[in-house]
Amino acid sequence: MAGVVRYGIIGVGMMGREHLINLHHLKDEGVAVVAVADPHGPSQKLAVDLAQSYGWSLKVFSGHREMIDSGLCDVLVVSSPNMTHYEILIDIMNHPRPHHVLVEKPLCTTVAHCREVVDAARKRPDMLVQVGLEYRYMPPVAKLIEVVKGGSLGTVKMMAIREHRFPFLVKVHNWNRFNINTGGTLVEKCCHFFDLMRLFAGSDPVRVMASGAIDVNHRDELYDGKVPDIIDNAYVIVEFENGSRGMLDLCMFAEGSRNEQEIAVVGDIGKGEAFVPESIVRVGTRVGGREGVQTLKAEDNRIKYDGLHHGSSYLEHLNFLHSVKSEGQRAPAVDLHDGLISVAIGVAAQLSIELGRFVTIAEVLS
Ligand SMILES: NC(=O)c1ccc[n+]([C@@H]2O[C@H](COP(=O)([O-])OP(=O)(O)OC[C@H]3O[C@@H](n4cnc5c(N)ncnc54)[C@H](O)[C@@H]3O)[C@@H](O)[C@H]2O)c1
Repeated sequence: MAGVVRYGIIGVGMMGREHLINLHHLKDEGVAVVAVADPHGPSQKLAVDLAQSYGWSLKVFSGHREMIDSGLCDVLVVSSPNMTHYEILIDIMNHPRPHHVLVEKPLCTTVAHCREVVDAARKRPDMLVQVGLEYRYMPPVAKLIEVVKGGSLGTVKMMAIREHRFPFLVKVHNWNRFNINTGGTLVEKCCHFFDLMRLFAGSDPVRVMASGAIDVNHRDELYDGKVPDIIDNAYVIVEFENGSRGMLDLCMFAEGSRNEQEIAVVGDIGKGEAFVPESIVRVGTRVGGREGVQTLKAEDNRIKYDGLHHGSSYLEHLNFLHSVKSEGQRAPAVDLHDGLISVAIGVAAQLSIELGRFVTIAEVLS
C-alpha cells in the first residue's frame, strides 16, 4: 500500500488511546490516525485532545457503522469492550469496502461468535485481520519463544505460566465486572497465556482442567444491584496433542509481586524462564546444572514507546503495518485461528470450573 496508511480506532477507552499513542510513534513509517468511533463523550474528548497534541485532527463518530461507511480509513483497530467485538467485526466483514483489522483480544466472548467471524473472514481475502495477542511481542517472552524454537531445550514437556498481579481496573460503565461481557476472566485476559502455551508446545490443546473462584476482589461492589461474577484466582491445566502440558497460576490480588508474569518452559534437555517486567530470560540445561544457568537481558531496540505493555503494542503495530504494506504478501503474525483457539481454551477452563471436570476442546468447539 503506497502513501500514508489511514487508521480508525473503534473504542477509545484506555486501550484505544494506547493504540493512538503507539500509532503516533509510528508516524515516520507512514501512519496517521484519522477517525475514532466511540459512543462515550469523555472517551471521545480524551482521544481528540491526545490526537490534537500530535497535530492530528480526528473525525469523530459515535458508532462504528458511520465510520466504516465514511470510507476514511484503510485500517480499523477494534478496541471496544469484548462483548462488542462480534457485531463490529461482522459489520466490517460484510461491508463492500475492504478494511484491514487489528482486533483486541479476546477475539469474541464465545466460541460460536469466533467461528462466525472466522467464516465471514474466509469470504474476504481482500482484508487482513490480526488478533491482539500481543504478549508474544514482549521482549523477554519473544526471547524465550526464540530459545524454545531454537531447540536448545529439547522437546517441550512442561510450561508453567504464573500471572500474579493487581485486580481488574475500573472500565467505562464497568463492563469488565461481568462474565457475560468479558467471556470470563480465563477468556478475557488469560487468552494471552493460552496463546503462548500453544506457541511453546507447537501443538494444539486437547483438554483442560481448572479450579478457580472470586475470593477477594470486587465482592463489595454492586452494579444495578448485582455483585461481579468474574473470578480473581485460578489454576488451569492444559494438555496438548503432542503430550506436553501447561499450567496457568493466576492470582489477581498479588500486588506484592516483583514480577507480573513468570514463565517457565521445560524440555527434555533444558529449561528456559522469562520474567516480566524484569525483562530477564534464564536458560539452563540438565547437563550444565545450576552453575550453567545463563541470565540474558531481553531488549528490542525497535521499540520507540514502551507504554502499558512493555513495548509489545508498538511491535504488534509495526508487524501488522508491514503486513498491510506488503499487500497480502505477508500474512498477519497472529491470525483468526490463533484468536479462536485461545478463546476456546479459556471457555473450556471456565466450563471446567463450573462442571468440576476435564473439558475437551472438541466439546467447546462443537
Ligand atoms: N492487549 C491487552 O493486553 C489489553 C489490555 C487492556 C484491554 N484490552 C482489550 O481492549 C478492549 C478495550 O478495553 P479498555 O480497557 O480500553 O476498556 P475501556 O472501558 O477503557 O474502553 C472501552 C471504550 O469502548 C467504548 N465502547 C463501548 N461500546 C462501544 C461500541 N459499540 N463501539 C465503539 N466503542 C465502544 C467505550 O465507550 C469506551 O470508551 C477490550 O477488548 C480489552 O479486552 C487489551
